[in-house]
Amino acid sequence: MTEQRGNWTSNAGFILAATGSAIGLGNLWKFPFITWENNGGAFVLVYLVCIAAVGLPIMMAELLIGRKTQKSAVGALREAVGPGWGIVGGWGVLCGFILLSYYTVIAGWSLFYFSKTIGWTVGGFPADMQTGDLFGTQVSNAGLQLTLSLGFSIATVAVVYFGVQKGIERIAKLFLPILFAILVLLLVSALGMSGSGEALGFIFRPSFSELEPGGVLEALGHSFFTLSLGMGAMITYGSYIDRSQSIVKASAVIVVLDTLIALVATVIMFSVIFSVPGMEEQVGGSTVGMLFISLPQLFYTEVPFGTLLGPLFYVLVALAALTSTISLLEVVAAYVIDEHGIERHKATILCGSAIFVFTIFAALSFSDVPLLATMELFEGKIGWFSTADHFVSNWMLPTGGLAITIAAGWFMTREATAAELADETAPGWFNYGFWRFFIRFVSPLAVGAIIIAVLFFGVDFS
Ligand code: TRP
Repeated sequence: MTEQRGNWTSNAGFILAATGSAIGLGNLWKFPFITWENNGGAFVLVYLVCIAAVGLPIMMAELLIGRKTQKSAVGALREAVGPGWGIVGGWGVLCGFILLSYYTVIAGWSLFYFSKTIGWTVGGFPADMQTGDLFGTQVSNAGLQLTLSLGFSIATVAVVYFGVQKGIERIAKLFLPILFAILVLLLVSALGMSGSGEALGFIFRPSFSELEPGGVLEALGHSFFTLSLGMGAMITYGSYIDRSQSIVKASAVIVVLDTLIALVATVIMFSVIFSVPGMEEQVGGSTVGMLFISLPQLFYTEVPFGTLLGPLFYVLVALAALTSTISLLEVVAAYVIDEHGIERHKATILCGSAIFVFTIFAALSFSDVPLLATMELFEGKIGWFSTADHFVSNWMLPTGGLAITIAAGWFMTREATAAELADETAPGWFNYGFWRFFIRFVSPLAVGAIIIAVLFFGVDFS
């Protein structure tokens, strides 16, 4: 049975795969931007508190439910918590399905910028290049968007097709070290730039008068997204852990690495931006603006060794995105494999194709294909792309996360959770009572606050 499902070959392999799931566009694309929007310092501090007080306990809860049952999201919650709880797993599978459908489109943009930057490195950066226009042209080009996202979807399916060991774990072991190395190179180059001091001050010097209440909630919402929590992804990865591996240690490593990478990415981007006079005003607009409009040009005009680092940077974005998309697809595929008895190869292709149908809508959200671009579904948001992002970030992850904390804190017995966390694998510093207090009280109250904010105060996390 277990052999058929597959298992991680080693603790390091599992940790790299889970860290790869966590590190993604959330770290490179979303976090730097929301830090910018919320004026840095105090926001970053609040975010760190959320990661420690909410993210870490829920990470342990998801992994323990997976390890205990050796089943994917639906089956695991049903078996560990109770028959009706399968529905929470189903909610997670649906969330993975929707999230993957548009995540792939942004991932596709990194492929476009990779090929562009290679072209500029080889042929020179055109003097009249307007990167804002370039972004607008590529995103509204329907054929290009479909090609890029199809390419990325095929890569994702190809990895998951080969299974837990030969696909997911192997790719994580290969790509994550490359990703870390590229980040170190970029960091060294960025720290040498004139704006790095200002960037570090912006990020690490808290000024609470500049933090608005909405920022606190945004930090909380993002801590779910960035750690891949609230939708059963970590339950699924946890189901391939064997009982000799410590959930507590693994959770700590994954959470620390994910946070570190988000901070390093932010230091890199802000150092570049603060080094260029007038850039701060230009960045203003959007997440897209920072990663795909301001940076491409700065690599060629400002950054030391930028002609080399530019293409490397977009490879980094693509690798980080791929280790996340494979984990999203795995949530859906593992459900189909475990619950419907469909064999992995078939299940992967089936799920990948079904999701791609929705990716088509996301990819065309910015094009001038009439019907798709004008389809207003949600509070004036246009197209599947923003509708899906809005729905996932504001509704699905927080509600899924709340259900999981309640399941682990209130519906599973103390004996059941202690048997997974406080066993012989637990490190000396771990205090089970402490975890239990957080999962029963602190995390549900905090997550409940997000949901209330969204419901009654119209806060938008997308
Ligand atoms: N953590 C990913 C990122 O930061 C995004 C994400 C959210 C995710 N939930 C997930 C990835 C589930 C894989 C599985 O970009």
